[in-house]
Amino acid sequence: MAASSLFPRLLFLLSFTLYIPPSSSSRSVPPATAAATAATPAALASALAPGLPPYKPGPITTNGKNYTKACDPARFADLGLDMADFLYCNSSLGYAERVRDLVGRMTLVEKIANLGDRAQGAARIGLPKYGWWSEALHGVASTGHATYFGDVVPAATSFPNVILTAAAFNETLWKAIAQAISTEGRAMYNLGHTGLTFWSPNINVARDPRWGRVLETPGEDPYTVGRYSVNFVRGMQDVQGSETTDDPHTRPLKVSTCCKHYAAYDLDNWFGVTRFDFDSRVTQQDMVETFVRPFETCVREGDSSSIMCSFNRINGIPVCADPQLMSQTFRDDWQLHGYIVSDCDSIEVIYERQKWLNGTPEEAVARVMKAGLDLDCGYGPLNYYMNFTESAVKQGLVRESDIDNALKNLYMLLMRVGFFDNIPAFEPLGTNDICTEEKRELAVDAARQAIVLLKNDDNTLPLDASKYKSIALVGPHANATEAMIGNYAGIPCRYLSPLDAFSTDADSVEYVQACDVKCTNDSLFGPAVAAAKNASATFIFVGLDLSIEAEERDRMDLLLPGSQTELVNKVADASAGPVILVILSGSCLDVSFAHENPKIGAIIWAGYPGGEGGQAIADVVFGRYNPGGKLPITWYKNEYIEQIPMTSMPLRPVDEFGYPGRTYKFFNGTALYPFGYGLSYSNYTYGGVRCFSSSVTISLDSTEFCKPLSYKEGGNASTCPALKIDELPCKETMEFDVGVTNHGTRGGSNVVIVYSKPPAEVADAPLKQVVGYQRVFVPAGGTAKVHFSLNACKALGLVEKTAYTVLPSGTSTIVVGDGDVAVSFPVEVQFQL
Ligand SMILES: *[C@@H]1O[C@H](CO)[C@@H](O)[C@H](O)[C@H]1NC(C)=O
Ligand SMILES: *[C@@H]1O[C@H](CO)[C@@H](O)[C@H](O)[C@H]1NC(C)=O
Ligand SMILES: *[C@@H]1O[C@H](CO)[C@@H](O)[C@H](O)[C@H]1NC(C)=O
Ligand SMILES: *[C@@H]1O[C@H](CO)[C@@H](O)[C@H](O)[C@H]1NC(C)=O
Ligand SMILES: *[C@@H]1O[C@H](CO)[C@@H](O)[C@H](O)[C@H]1NC(C)=O
Ligand SMILES: *[C@@H]1O[C@H](CO)[C@@H](O)[C@H](O)[C@H]1NC(C)=O
Ligand SMILES: *[C@@H]1O[C@H](CO)[C@@H](O)[C@H](O)[C@H]1NC(C)=O
Ligand SMILES: *[C@@H]1O[C@H](CO)[C@@H](O)[C@H](O)[C@H]1NC(C)=O
Ligand SMILES: *[C@@H]1O[C@H](CO)[C@@H](O)[C@H](O)[C@H]1NC(C)=O
Ligand SMILES: *[C@@H]1O[C@H](CO)[C@@H](O)[C@H](O)[C@H]1NC(C)=O
Repeated sequence: MAASSLFPRLLFLLSFTLYIPPSSSSRSVPPATAAATAATPAALASALAPGLPPYKPGPITTNGKNYTKACDPARFADLGLDMADFLYCNSSLGYAERVRDLVGRMTLVEKIANLGDRAQGAARIGLPKYGWWSEALHGVASTGHATYFGDVVPAATSFPNVILTAAAFNETLWKAIAQAISTEGRAMYNLGHTGLTFWSPNINVARDPRWGRVLETPGEDPYTVGRYSVNFVRGMQDVQGSETTDDPHTRPLKVSTCCKHYAAYDLDNWFGVTRFDFDSRVTQQDMVETFVRPFETCVREGDSSSIMCSFNRINGIPVCADPQLMSQTFRDDWQLHGYIVSDCDSIEVIYERQKWLNGTPEEAVARVMKAGLDLDCGYGPLNYYMNFTESAVKQGLVRESDIDNALKNLYMLLMRVGFFDNIPAFEPLGTNDICTEEKRELAVDAARQAIVLLKNDDNTLPLDASKYKSIALVGPHANATEAMIGNYAGIPCRYLSPLDAFSTDADSVEYVQACDVKCTNDSLFGPAVAAAKNASATFIFVGLDLSIEAEERDRMDLLLPGSQTELVNKVADASAGPVILVILSGSCLDVSFAHENPKIGAIIWAGYPGGEGGQAIADVVFGRYNPGGKLPITWYKNEYIEQIPMTSMPLRPVDEFGYPGRTYKFFNGTALYPFGYGLSYSNYTYGGVRCFSSSVTISLDSTEFCKPLSYKEGGNASTCPALKIDELPCKETMEFDVGVTNHGTRGGSNVVIVYSKPPAEVADAPLKQVVGYQRVFVPAGGTAKVHFSLNACKALGLVEKTAYTVLPSGTSTIVVGDGDVAVSFPVEVQFQL
């Protein structure tokens, strides 16, 4: 449906929904014009950061000499100081004592000059300046103030974008990538090209397929997103041998990560509703079950040393100014060992755009500081903490001790990453550790492991390269380079486009781009059609890029842009040999037309595969790798977005408005390709599920802990419907083995996803939910055994309307696998008095 006909219908829906405050969000907001977006300096600038001059903090430089640690006696001598006079540089003392000494020496003005991401330091007492803002979403990125490429560090390894890496469902891979990124990050720090604090990963659940930042995330499943975050954070932060110590507040960190953007933030700019103005109306049930869950996992299990609060409001309150969502949750409930940072210019957004409580800039500063915000990222020249805290203190709005607390959190972290002392194991890292062959291979392997085969009629793929010597490569992405690295990218070590890679497999490659991604001009379709006629096999590379889906840019539909569909149909029609469609995109595309077109034998989704992604695609196409990736998001048909406005937050269907549910957990319609879908050159079946036992019995002292549960009409209420999980010891585990048999002629890796289904009589429950997965290699004709050990409460628990997480009594079901090959078995939960 065209945007023009969609728009009036959605407005109608918006003005009657309970979930949108019509006056604030949908009506008074200015349209999404260039002028309107330009009024939000920070975010726009961060989206466009590659084009802006970077802030070059360089190494710690004193009198023209470079140092990799603040506490170097020679550095102090250069400043005319004796390091022995400064307790904070005495490495035989504890971090807390050193930090107390440092903060105690600072004047109020010096303190305030260090509350922003471009911290000024204090030369008087030997404290260097520090740039906090670096990014490393899928490789060290040029986004942010504190990282730059050039001279001795021209490039760094570019891994696939996260949505693709997620599709590998391989936790070992996720962690290995993060370890490689942090090694390059640490080397770049030693060379003065980046800081040690990386504001990655992005772990917002991809609630809606239109969101422009789906490419940055691990997808739509809160469990998977949480597990991705744990592996990324552990891979980045952990120093071997001190992963767990007695005191997590002083555990050394290789580099620091930041889980963002907390929370219920997954709308950038949709029909003029921007992330700055959006008031996310969210139920507490959805908060616990979906929006907050990955963050809790990231902090509690990953021990991430930072969290970033998001621009949006939640139920009326700006997140960064909400003490309940911030300090109470992070510090009291989750025991965050680290610091809390704002999204860039959040305080300005609260003051200027949201006009929160009609306060002054000083009141905005006081509110966020009391809510627990330690560091203010400011993109533009104004940094609210650095510019308004002094007057806030003078006006009696902020206590100096609030500032001290923030600084203590910041300097404890800088102690742990070795800003003051460096970390001996990492001091030798340098140019030889960046862009290595080993990391290049890991990046290509990540894309190979993740690529998803969506269609493969009559085993069209793999192609035998020796039989297809003259091939046609057509379409906007056939020679993709920058498009392959997506956003939050750095400078890749090198590009290997599909054209480059396929050219080494075929004797003759006819390349016709035909049109760019927007594909508004069909005048060059003719040569593409001619090339297809003449070729023994035709590859059509289509999809999206940052001109269609990006930060500040949500999509209006799920279709291929412009005339890409027409290009695909014309070329496919004309092709003499097999036709393979390759899609580069972050979020889903409704390619039903191609799925149904018998001329198109195979469809591959390659996400944004990283700098050398062309190699991974060729390896899959020519059978050097047997694909095994599975979709981490539902691929809806385009009609989905006509049924539900992006601003409606509930995950469950809203019958009143005819809204379908969201994600595989609640969407009960027919998807083009469901979550967990992905073919292979082999066929796998699951069998021999050896089950622990078919019931879980929990003994109770009395029924006083029993909680009510919503039942469907006609459902039989049990005397003790459910128990609240945090009141149970929950030691019961469900152990079982699954045999995965490969019926094909090629070895391959299969992802076994395990779901639980709540008892059928429970109302408003998820259709199913992921509770575990493993990727396993199975030789041709062989069977591999996979062992699962699931905690009964975690696997069978669900979040009630009350936002309690409960274990329901009754018969749940464990489902192993997706689609036709899935096998399942019941598990009965009973409470015994
Ligand atoms: C210090 O580091 C900067 C940035 O890497 C570099 O340009 C400069 O040459 C270095 N200076 C010395 C003395 O090594
Ligand atoms: C560092 O502190 C330790 C313990 O208090 C003390 O023995 C030592 O002399 C101090 N070192 C310096 C250089 O001041
Ligand atoms: C804001 O603070 C920064 C850093 O202290 C300073 O350089 C700048 O001049 C200040 N700007 C205003 C408008 O006060
Ligand atoms: C492929 O893209 C690269 C990088 O943009 C460009 O240099 C090259 O000329 C392109 N190849 C063809 C055949 O157009
Ligand atoms: C379409 O592309 C052709 C060939 O590059 C060009 O001559 C023509 O002006 C373009 N048309 C439009 C409307 O941009
Ligand atoms: C057809 O393919 C051959 C190589 O197989 C090539 O030499 C020729 O230029 C192609 N013709 C067209 C019209 O693409
Ligand atoms: C899907 O959910 C809606 C809303 O709850 C319901 O009306 C409809 O019957 C369901 N459809 C299917 C196929 O279960
Ligand atoms: C896998 O099974 C499907 C359906 O049974 C069949 O059509 C297909 O040819 C099989 N593929 C392989 C590689 O065995
Ligand atoms: C409720 O219990 C009755 C009697 O035990 C049984 O026949 C019926 O199937 C149950 N209904 C549901 C929805 O479980
Ligand atoms: C998972 O990733 C690791 C690291 O890249 C790789 O060695 C392993 O083979 C992968 N596992 C499977 C089953 O594909």
